[in-house]
Amino acid sequence: MATIEVVNVCEYEALAKEKLPKMAFDYYSSGAEDQWTLQQNRNAFQNIRFRPRILVDVSNVDISTTVLGLKISMPIMVAPAAMQKMAHPEGELATARAAAAAGTVMTLSSLATSSIEEVAATGPGIHFFQLYVFKDRNIVAQLVHRAECAGFKAIAVTADTPRLGRREADIKNRFVLPPHLTLKNFEGLDLGKMEKTNDSGLASYISSQIDRSLSWKDIRWLQTITKLPILVKGVLTAEDAKLCVEVGAAGVIVSNHGARQLDFVPATISALEEVVTAIQGRIPVFMDGGVRRGTDVLKALALGAAGIFVGRPVVYGLATDGEAGVRNVLQLLRDEFELAMSLAGCTKLSEISRSHIQIGNEKSKLSISRL
Ligand SMILES: Cc1cc2nc3c(=O)[nH]c(=O)nc-3n(C[C@H](O)[C@H](O)[C@H](O)COP(=O)(O)O)c2cc1C
Repeated sequence: MATIEVVNVCEYEALAKEKLPKMAFDYYSSGAEDQWTLQQNRNAFQNIRFRPRILVDVSNVDISTTVLGLKISMPIMVAPAAMQKMAHPEGELATARAAAAAGTVMTLSSLATSSIEEVAATGPGIHFFQLYVFKDRNIVAQLVHRAECAGFKAIAVTADTPRLGRREADIKNRFVLPPHLTLKNFEGLDLGKMEKTNDSGLASYISSQIDRSLSWKDIRWLQTITKLPILVKGVLTAEDAKLCVEVGAAGVIVSNHGARQLDFVPATISALEEVVTAIQGRIPVFMDGGVRRGTDVLKALALGAAGIFVGRPVVYGLATDGEAGVRNVLQLLRDEFELAMSLAGCTKLSEISRSHIQIGNEKSKLSISRL
């Protein structure tokens, strides 16, 4: 596969569709139910326009930043996506290597087909661990301990999945992990297999293993079992953003799980400002959902995000061309973002501000005051 032909990350979706078995592609691409939120995650970016500044010297543009005190080369990180060996034999290991080469964070899913230790062994790189809280808290404590020992730098606890959203293609396909693969982190615990059921096998697995009683007190509990910073993933409201600060979260990820959980929640780019305003700079706010362009990244940062995560484009790049595909996805986003910053007249991330964008019918403050 000549990656050179691919000029933007959206093109990887069709290429991945050609390569993957239907069951795998449908699993990666689906949203919940009517997929209204799935469309919104993309469309809502179109409601935001730039107010670029001109005649700024952009001969040097620095897009590097820090996340939880760690230096990364760009505010674009890799979201956790489960079961990546269905996309490519090297799965999460290829993704981890590509993220490390790009100088950014790779988040490993609890439900990965590569283990925490295998990902750590891919070499240097900043790894976060996405945590699903199992009913059996010994399993949770073990997982968190393993991530800490393996040098992972943060735990992103997924808070929007007490049950799995209804993904109709997975139900129709009777989705199940192919028999040659396992949920590697649970192999030794006898939870590595997913049974074929009359439904989505993943929905049944989640329903039997994941703790529906997960609540705010558990975020405090997690802090007692690890020194790692805890990010809460799945925040969409000001109310919950404030609670995250109260319970001691190190940061929040504004996310609707790639529109795979509750349908008819807003696009994440539409929910972002409410969360940023509520948090008042006390902890960093990240977002994911529908980010496909460098301009999307610039819009998210203008609304106050400290960085963004990408999900599906990484998986599609992986399916198309393994590690090289993921590298190219990250490179394309990096190049587009740097170009967008230059054209908007920003030379470093701290210069990106709310005044660089307009949403909907909003008028700029300046033009209103002159009316
Ligand atoms: C195939 C797939 C698997 C995912 N697996 C997980 C997971 O295991 N844990 C989790 O917290 N989020 C998971 N997510 C959600 C992503 O972390 C992220 O929130 C979402 O993909 C971002 O939206 P985007 O795909 O439009 O970039 C998954 C998303 C996809 C598409």
